[in-house]
Amino acid sequence: MSSVLVVGGTSGIGREIARHFAAAGDRVTLTGRQASRAAAVANDIGGDATGIALDLAVPHGIAPALAGLDVVDNVVLAAIDREVSTRVHDFDIDLAQRLVTLKLVGYPEVVHALRSRLAPDAAIVMFGGLAMLRPYPGSNTVSTVNGGVIGLMNTLIVELAPIRVNVIHPGIVGDSPYWRDRDLSGVVARTPCGRLAQMADIVDAVAFLLRNPAVNGVSLNVDGGTLLG
Ligand SMILES: NC(=O)c1ccc[n+]([C@@H]2O[C@H](COP(=O)([O-])OP(=O)(O)OC[C@H]3O[C@@H](n4cnc5c(N)ncnc54)[C@H](OP(=O)(O)O)[C@@H]3O)[C@@H](O)[C@H]2O)c1
Repeated sequence: MSSVLVVGGTSGIGREIARHFAAAGDRVTLTGRQASRAAAVANDIGGDATGIALDLAVPHGIAPALAGLDVVDNVVLAAIDREVSTRVHDFDIDLAQRLVTLKLVGYPEVVHALRSRLAPDAAIVMFGGLAMLRPYPGSNTVSTVNGGVIGLMNTLIVELAPIRVNVIHPGIVGDSPYWRDRDLSGVVARTPCGRLAQMADIVDAVAFLLRNPAVNGVSLNVDGGTLLG
């Protein structure tokens, strides 16, 4: 049995990751910004799951929020703030700062807060996203932070060795809450696989990145080959 922390585990892909590991018999801690929601989701997915509150955009609160955790084997950093949409023509500094803080300060602060409790063979997976290479209107800051996560990964590998760190870049995940009610036929048409990645595909890839002891420093696109279409 492993101990798994899923930051951003109350919704979408993070929730499916938490469900996967709880079903496998692991001890799962999932986070969202509200304690009540995190607890309700933990209760819903069942198994040995606990929910705690943590806001990555308020990074000084991260260490206290994680104080109750024991040794952690696997860390998944999946959180994103979906309300942040920025374009250069009407750039919103406050929104942009919130998302930059969430991923590029909040993600490493989680690792910093846990550093003495990471198992010697621990593994970390952080979420970027293909918006860094395939932007869409409003993805200005999303694209920027998704690329920034790669630099963070490279640094953490050197700083935390032998702990492994990998990044996953989903393309548009067709059945995720943000996209599932939208017309994605144009994206499907240019995707060589003829289908978009589904949340189960992302969960499978995250499990692989966490499990395989030789995979380190991989920035893995899981997108059905959209960049080639
Ligand atoms: N869905 C896609 O197609 C897609 C494509 C490319 C990349 N990605 C990446 O995949 C990851 C998961 O995406 P998703 O679409 O599954 O996300 P989602 O359904 O919007 O879920 C986001 C999660 O992040 C948490 N969260 C939001 N703001 C937070 C904050 N300030 N501090 C801490 N937690 C916060 C949310 O919890 P509460 O609301 O309960 O606080 C929720 O658990 C993200 O990193 C995203 O960039 C997704």
